[in-house]
Amino acid sequence: MPRVVLSLPLPGPAQAMLREAATVEVLGAILPAPEYRRAVVGADALLPQLRDRIDAAVLDAAGPQLRVVANYAVGFDNVDVPACTARGVLVGNTPDVLTDATADCAMALLLATARRVVEGDAAMRQGRYHGWEPDYMLGADVTGQTLGLIGFGRIGRAVARRARDGFGMRVLVHDPWLPGPLAEPGVSACGLDELLGAADFISCHVPLTAETHHLIGAPQLERMRASAILLNTARGPIIDEPALVQALRSGTIRGAGLDVYEGEPAMAEGLAACPNCVLLPHLGSATWTTRARMGELAAANVLAALRGELPPHCVNPEAAAGGPSPATG
Ligand code: GLV
Ligand code: GLV
Repeated sequence: MPRVVLSLPLPGPAQAMLREAATVEVLGAILPAPEYRRAVVGADALLPQLRDRIDAAVLDAAGPQLRVVANYAVGFDNVDVPACTARGVLVGNTPDVLTDATADCAMALLLATARRVVEGDAAMRQGRYHGWEPDYMLGADVTGQTLGLIGFGRIGRAVARRARDGFGMRVLVHDPWLPGPLAEPGVSACGLDELLGAADFISCHVPLTAETHHLIGAPQLERMRASAILLNTARGPIIDEPALVQALRSGTIRGAGLDVYEGEPAMAEGLAACPNCVLLPHLGSATWTTRARMGELAAANVLAALRGELPPHCVNPEAAAGGPSPATG
């Protein structure tokens, strides 16, 4: 039987699905790189998650029989895709199944930051609420405000629909990477500078690449309105986090809602002390159903590759042409 190496146990049916066709080895931890390289020797499939770095050294340690890297995430910035393609290793990811959960999470951060939900909760628990007052803990309006989306892929679109249809928001989009026109009613495209100057809320939905690294830094924060709230449910390094801390402290912007961090799980110094931000521990896709579906999809990606087929969600189908021919049996 082919051997599949999983880093951590998965919720849902994924492991049972894999055991039908493979020997499943669960490492039970995110191993340091040297240990991970030792653990993958001889594997036919890897099912890593975003904390595992899959680079040329890992691929070479696994060996030439390695067929597929099925990342348990929609993002795959932790995988060196060109190195995989060069070795004929297919790379799978888990799109679609986590779109709604992640869009819901972005809206949760938007509302929580605007309406000071976490500060209010803390005040209640600490006995600091002394009764309704006209000017107590006032926040920002949401309904009818302008939302600027940086990135208009699946998740960006799902956020746009919630904001437009649920909250009557005007939606601006900056996405120079879109293959075609916007094609979404009630949503208009604009340049990044225009979006930064016009939006009450700015939400990041781009993958992390060399181009999107620090897409939001000090100059971009300066261009935002003093009343703006910045949201990030994509990848931490899209925002220069120390620059954000500075902007939150100095009132350059009103607030931030973050699910991801530059040096995750660490945070930039000073961020935790800023009362005007809501901080989540990378929970975008964290519902039982979503995590189970991500597992099913990652398992389906592994199983297809082991049968010599293209995984249902493959980010480098060209690897199939150049790679070693599928094993028999
Ligand atoms: C989570 O961050 C993912 O990319 O699925
Ligand atoms: C607030 O609770 C109100 O009734 O205005």
